[in-house]
Amino acid sequence: MTFSQQELKEQVAKAAVDYILPLLTPGSVVGVGTGSTADLFIDQLAKHKDAFRAAVASSERSAKRLTNHGIAVLDLNEVQTMPVYVDGADEINALLQMIKGGGGALTREKIVASVAERFVCIADESKVVAELGAFKLPIEVLPMALQSVSRQVAKLGGQAQLRQGFTTDNGNPILDVAGFSVADARSLECQINDIPGVVCCGFFAKSPATVALIATQEGVKTLT
Ligand code: 5RP
Repeated sequence: MTFSQQELKEQVAKAAVDYILPLLTPGSVVGVGTGSTADLFIDQLAKHKDAFRAAVASSERSAKRLTNHGIAVLDLNEVQTMPVYVDGADEINALLQMIKGGGGALTREKIVASVAERFVCIADESKVVAELGAFKLPIEVLPMALQSVSRQVAKLGGQAQLRQGFTTDNGNPILDVAGFSVADARSLECQINDIPGVVCCGFFAKSPATVALIATQEGVKTLT
């Protein structure tokens, strides 16, 4: 029997809840990511509402799903620390460095993750890569800097394309960048962050995941 990608996402969402439950107390706040895998995680988390106090969401989309399940959603400014942040990824390598932002929530994801003690990445095996970069790198940009950032990105070897018909929860456009050579994702993340007008880039390499739960045809594997 072969599991579909949807079934693998459901399996890793359940595994994530099993993984984080021992880390939670009734007073805990859980950081929650964005995307189809994060959606499934929210659905599983909702079965354990007594195990934690509230959540902080990395997008309006996730906040709405949490609220619909009756889970309290806090503003990040109300929270000093969280034991765990759980989110998907578009690509993840053996160092647990990721490309994120396919759903456009990269900036809030990086901020919420930075407040959590651990980042638990949940993904199906199609997201595991030897080298980051086949997935176009999302970069959230201030509107007035679209052209200037595109030119700076070209100097770093990337071809930027405006994500059509999309605005982030922060009111900004996204550039999706192809063509980067990503031997050193950490260094490239710093270089892109330094471009004036860049709000956030989708490399999560300076602060990779703490642990990755990867759903495979042979079961959910834990990478550390
Ligand atoms: C959203 C993200 C998501 O985590 C990433 O796009 C993976 O999404 P999915 O679980 O739907 O494959 O970074 O900004």
